Amino acid sequence: MTVTMHDIAEHYNADRTRLLDMLWDIQHQWGYIPAEVLPELADRLGTTAQDIKETFSFYHFFLDTPPAKHTIYLSDTVIAHLNGYPEVLAALEKETGCLLGGRDVTDTFSLATTPCIGLSDQEPAMLIGDDVFTSLTVKKIADIIQRLKSGESSSDIANPTGFPRHSLAYVHGMVKSGIQCKGPVFFRDKTNFSSLLHRLISMSPAQVIQTVSDSGLRGRGGAGFSTGRKWQLCSDNEEKQRFILCNADEGEPGTFKDRVLLTESPRDVFFGMLTAAYAVGATQGVIYLRSEYAYLMDYLEAQLAECRAEGLLGQSVGGHAGFDFDIRIQRGAGAYICGDETAMMESMEGKRGTPRLKPPYPVNQGYLGKPTSANNVETFAAVTHIMDKGASWFKEMGTAGSAGTRLLSISGDCAAPGIYEIEWGITLNEVLTRAGATDALAVQLRVAASRKRFTASSSLTA
Ligand SMILES: Cc1cc2nc3c(=O)[nH]c(=O)nc-3n(C[C@H](O)[C@H](O)[C@H](O)COP(=O)(O)O)c2cc1C
Repeated sequence: MTVTMHDIAEHYNADRTRLLDMLWDIQHQWGYIPAEVLPELADRLGTTAQDIKETFSFYHFFLDTPPAKHTIYLSDTVIAHLNGYPEVLAALEKETGCLLGGRDVTDTFSLATTPCIGLSDQEPAMLIGDDVFTSLTVKKIADIIQRLKSGESSSDIANPTGFPRHSLAYVHGMVKSGIQCKGPVFFRDKTNFSSLLHRLISMSPAQVIQTVSDSGLRGRGGAGFSTGRKWQLCSDNEEKQRFILCNADEGEPGTFKDRVLLTESPRDVFFGMLTAAYAVGATQGVIYLRSEYAYLMDYLEAQLAECRAEGLLGQSVGGHAGFDFDIRIQRGAGAYICGDETAMMESMEGKRGTPRLKPPYPVNQGYLGKPTSANNVETFAAVTHIMDKGASWFKEMGTAGSAGTRLLSISGDCAAPGIYEIEWGITLNEVLTRAGATDALAVQLRVAASRKRFTASSSLTA
């Protein structure tokens, strides 16, 4: 069925701030964003075609010309190069008949590279549309491209068993979670969310903030800001409409822990957001999901729907009058800078992802100009376990300055790439030993906060 500009605009109440969603709807329908549709959309949104074009040209995955039948994005990272990237690229060029950056004469394939797609533990990897292909070899490429040529869709090849897109089996069939080392906090027992919810609403918002502050939890998105303090600042505002944002942009090359948390423990993340909402008095939460993780969309939507059905989201959550909170997912469109929380807010408002000058800080004027607490996926998941097991349980782990544990995304020249939960204060040598990196010449740490808090027990030299 052809969807018109009227339908697309109406679906979002002609709300200009939802432009990214509308652009995705257009691209899903036409395969790209045709210039001809822009004037009508602009009219409906009260803007100009030029404004819309200027916005979408910012994003890597929005296309302004008709694409080939299959658009292939090969992830170009250091890890991929360690694992056979040149051979895989050569096989892609040979099998598709395209040179990198171009398309074949029949317009069946186009071939481009893209920066890290959050799969460093199973590279080389590539995207074809929203479908993900990992651990690529020359043989695998030959098979995939031959099947595409014979008319199979990338979705059928990526999901041969035909699992429903909203199922965990579908996600696992496409991407391994690769949890190598569980710790005391994440991926453990199944949380009893309904009893946790009762505990949450038996506390006052101030007590919740105090608990999170007492735990010593610092944000896991990079800057390491105290989560309790951020929530306090957000709740201190006169303005009563407040927002909770979950930063799932995970664009830092080499990181993939948020991908694994969203796969294995999405409800821990949602409950952390719910806790934040209760603490600061927010009614709306948004998860900003990087476009490369679009294969998780249906699964996450299904998990959200189950939470609504169980009364963990929606009106009067837990039967508590006035506690209304729901979460929507905002798909990004390919821009590393949108991991910066202010750029993310611009993007969520349907604009180019240009970082804002601070002050004002998001806790005072954030998403839609309202007080906003933006936190990382791992931060929210940690909050859920703190609410479950207590502030002192968390505080007793780690170091004096950095409480708790954290998830490391480890990849490269090691026997067991994947996710490792470690306690702050661990030595780099211990991490290398656990990952089976016996003769490392160099180690690259990609999170600013970790860089300051790792202690290496011996120096690594090339
Ligand atoms: C260029 C840039 C990229 C960033 N990328 C991310 C990201 O992918 N995920 C994330 O959670 N934070 C990222 N941040 C940090 C966020 O701006 C913000 O500090 C964080 O989401 C706050 O959450 P936290 O308090 O839980 O750490 C980035 C910051 C900058 C400057």
